[in-house]
Amino acid sequence: MTDNSPKTAETRFDGNRPLRLAVLISGSGSNLQALIDASQHDQAPFQVALVISNRADAFGLERAERVGIPTQTLSHRGFKTREAYDTALAELLRAADPGLIALAGFMRILTPGFVEYWQGRMLNIHPSLLPSYRGLHTHQRVLEAGDPMHGATVHFVTAELDGGPAILQARVPVQANDDADRLGARVLKQEHCIYPLAVRWFAEGRLRLGSDGRTQLDGQPLDSPLIIDAST
Ligand code: GRF
Repeated sequence: MTDNSPKTAETRFDGNRPLRLAVLISGSGSNLQALIDASQHDQAPFQVALVISNRADAFGLERAERVGIPTQTLSHRGFKTREAYDTALAELLRAADPGLIALAGFMRILTPGFVEYWQGRMLNIHPSLLPSYRGLHTHQRVLEAGDPMHGATVHFVTAELDGGPAILQARVPVQANDDADRLGARVLKQEHCIYPLAVRWFAEGRLRLGSDGRTQLDGQPLDSPLIIDAST
């Protein structure tokens, strides 16, 4: 009988071979770039093994191709249902046998079955201090609310959109003269720090999703995400 049960970080990381990371994108791929850069450091515990985009014109594909990382485009057009798309996506992923999937600006809602299969082995980065501001246009919404702080969150992916257990946040102070672009650019810069850090922890076997649904770091459940404060 084939064992299709999800493998945990502990069972997949052997301490020698880098963890195989699949990155799913739809656009610029600046977070992908940060992950590639981190993976190219000496003794990085992970390698970007595959990049998949649902858009053929995603610049992130070029970023991967210029350093020889395999890419696939799986357009959502032509699939009648989300389930059919996610089944095709799962096939591409399984062929690459990743230990972890990183969603990096992948602009598709994934089906519960897909998410459940990869639960505990799929991360996302979201440009807000979750649980505040799930969904789109977070920078503008923060400015309209007059919040003094904004930021980004790395979290495990569950079926609840932007709702999975948080791991790590970068907090960014809102400045008096901010518009959505200026604020978003400062948040993005912090995303490029925290995403590779969380992936590294996972690859080192330090980070996992506990059976109680809480994030665990070094064997300890986190009651709240770890926070890095950016000065600007
Ligand atoms: C980032 O802001 C990320 O938080 C969000 O989508 C954006 C992707 O940007 N999920 P990039 O493609 O990584 O530059």
